[in-house]
Amino acid sequence: MKHLLSTENLSIQDAIGILDTAEEMATVGDREVKKLPALRGRTVVNLFFEDSTRTRISFEAAAKRLSADVINFAAKGSSVSKGESLKDTAQTLAAMGADAVVIRHWASGAPHRLAATDWIDAAIINAGDGTHEHPTQALLDAFTMRRHWSKLNGTASTGSALKGMRVAIAGDVLHSRVARSNVWLLRTLGADVTLVAPPTLLPIGVESWPCKVSYDLDSTLEAGVDAMMMLRVQGERMNASFFPSTREYSRRWGFDDTRLKALDELGLKDTIIMHPGPMNRGLEISSSAADSPRSTVLDQVRNGVSVRMAALYLLLSGDSREAAPSLSSAPSSSKENN
Ligand code: NCD
Repeated sequence: MKHLLSTENLSIQDAIGILDTAEEMATVGDREVKKLPALRGRTVVNLFFEDSTRTRISFEAAAKRLSADVINFAAKGSSVSKGESLKDTAQTLAAMGADAVVIRHWASGAPHRLAATDWIDAAIINAGDGTHEHPTQALLDAFTMRRHWSKLNGTASTGSALKGMRVAIAGDVLHSRVARSNVWLLRTLGADVTLVAPPTLLPIGVESWPCKVSYDLDSTLEAGVDAMMMLRVQGERMNASFFPSTREYSRRWGFDDTRLKALDELGLKDTIIMHPGPMNRGLEISSSAADSPRSTVLDQVRNGVSVRMAALYLLLSGDSREAAPSLSSAPSSSKENN
């Protein structure tokens, strides 16, 4: 694996390999000194053309825990706002010796373009491209689900997949790269996925996706759900009115206090509630749901660092690159790139 652009074409071996490596990485986060020398001398650039809190600092923490040098590049305040092209930006980063570029871009396909051209010979990680994909978010979600699922089933979490787990993903699927990446990855891992949304917030062609589709959150819950993932209503990507009112949205599609109570009444005592953040409290999720013991929101953030460490480690120490670093020792000092 040279790049991590999408979950659609990620094999089950690669997916489980990342999740298992992330389990190893998680042990670093529990240590007093949260650092490994594995990527010493490597340079990771965080290239963010869109706002981000969690994803950017998560990648920064991940790269630093592996001892890489990190350069944070935000498009605002850079020459990009003077009209510099993606090509010129990429070539500049190549000239500075970037070994990995973590890119978030408002245009779907931007990371693929970087990976396909010869502008830069670095590992490219997609940190969210438009409404298309967000593979590391899906991987951290799967990691969080796998821990829960294996604990429930009394099985080891490494090596296993999510066979039989019922996952519902509800809300603004139309604008959500998180939903897309999750559907592909969860299919690969064997989970049973249902998308729940108003018809106006479902993309054209959703019938061909490897999942079920429902317009009714309550009946989906009644059918039984092991992980309930709520999506943010992405106001910034909406140029029209997709639902009558926020009140109506939260009543029909939000995970509110009534639905939180319904989980107990339905005997779904082990169902977890997930959200990638940032949350619109009171819209797609109520505060009591977000803060309840069922909520994995903060676990997802914590697990994100382990999963991104795993992705960076596997990409930068892969067979295609010289000087493969090992988990316990420092890499060779020679740097072949650029
Ligand atoms: C998501 C994103 O940016 O796609 N957030 C994240 O990465 N944690 C989801 C969202 O913005 O709703």
